[in-house]
Amino acid sequence: MHGKTSAGPKGHPHEVPGMKGGKEQAHGKKKVWLPRLIAWELTRSCNLDCIHCRAAARFGPYPNELTTEECLAFLDDVASFSDPIMIMTGGEPMMRDDIWEIAKHGTDLGLRMVMAPCGFLVTEETARKIMEVGIKRVSFSIDGATAESHDNFRRVDGAFASVMKAIENCKKVGLEFQVNTTISKHNLHELPRILELVIKLGAKAHHPFLLVPTGRGSELKDQEISPEDYEKTLTWFYEMRDKVPLQFKPTCAPHYYRIFRQGEREKGITVTPQTHGLDAMSKGCMGGQSFAFVSHVGKVQICGFLETECGDIRKEPFSSIWNTSEVFKQMRAWDDYKGRCGYCEYRSVCGGCRARAYAFTGDYMEEEPFCTYEPGEGAKRARDLKKKKAAQG
Ligand SMILES: C[S@@+](CC[C@H](N)C(=O)[O-])C[C@H]1O[C@@H](n2cnc3c(N)ncnc32)[C@H](O)[C@@H]1O
Ligand code: SF4
Ligand code: SF4
Repeated sequence: MHGKTSAGPKGHPHEVPGMKGGKEQAHGKKKVWLPRLIAWELTRSCNLDCIHCRAAARFGPYPNELTTEECLAFLDDVASFSDPIMIMTGGEPMMRDDIWEIAKHGTDLGLRMVMAPCGFLVTEETARKIMEVGIKRVSFSIDGATAESHDNFRRVDGAFASVMKAIENCKKVGLEFQVNTTISKHNLHELPRILELVIKLGAKAHHPFLLVPTGRGSELKDQEISPEDYEKTLTWFYEMRDKVPLQFKPTCAPHYYRIFRQGEREKGITVTPQTHGLDAMSKGCMGGQSFAFVSHVGKVQICGFLETECGDIRKEPFSSIWNTSEVFKQMRAWDDYKGRCGYCEYRSVCGGCRARAYAFTGDYMEEEPFCTYEPGEGAKRARDLKKKKAAQG
């Protein structure tokens, strides 16, 4: 399908140290899986109409969204067994009247509450309210270096200006913010300028997302950058990571973590939590492993980009779905992923994007379609041997 980069003579056909894969953890102990991050679509209603939106969100209102009581009970359940960061997202989460009550409840339970508003509703007054209910950080999306490019993508005039104003309001009240950018062919050439803008604005972090062709984005398959451009772009991210004064974290671009480790290895550096902090502990795709998504009507998914239902919090508590969902179990058994992703030396730090695999093949266990890496010789044999040993107990 495309030219593949190979492990080459320097490739190490063994598992990447640092993250133990599959069903077992080091020392044969059973791994305990806990959510570290939950994206919670509090409403699908939205005041933007973005061309790529995974939720295909409209102004709404949407029927049957979770009630205040259901939201508070969900938070109680999450806090009863874990303490993840809760991303209150949408649509536009601020279109819910009870947003402050929900956020405050999460804060009171000791959860780190963060929010992803669209911009228009963040006035100086609401920015203060955000701080008051204990929301620790907000994220805004900037998808173009200019108003014209951003507004074309978000399909609402004034969207760029509203984000600039919202950021100004956050700064006035001392509210921390980060910027997310979805990358596709439309803005690939603008990336350095977008990063420059994000730094100038004073964001704490910049998370570039790689387009996943789902929701309205499914019409944009031709806007996906080529696998070779992916490789170049992710390599550029890797080169920039310690040159910028903010946290720069490619998101939903799992093979970034392979490129990151390949780069450090070439420099003779071993990646450990001591030397690389969160970067060493993060994994490319965390869906179903330390990350989950809950929809506006309570459906649980591995992430917002893969619509496969893993449970429904109206029928079963999230804590139980987290431990029993068959799809979640499949996500945690990466030795069983198909194609290269099932035996690649980097599968435990990358995993490939399951949603992109699904969008292109109809099977979320398939190999990541946008990775050019060819695992080292023997990687498949090593995986098969591991599976055989595990089967023998
Ligand atoms: C938590 S969502 C933020 C939701 C918020 N309403 C917004 O769009 O700004 C995080 C990021 O996912 C991005 N996103 C939405 N649909 C996407 C898709 N199909 N592929 C990749 N990223 C997508 C959004 O642009 C946003 O930057
Ligand atoms: S082959 Fe799959 S697991 Fe390996 S680097 Fe590529 S996407 Fe990641
Ligand atoms: S499957 Fe994984 S990498 Fe892909 S969009 Fe979902 S969480 Fe991100």
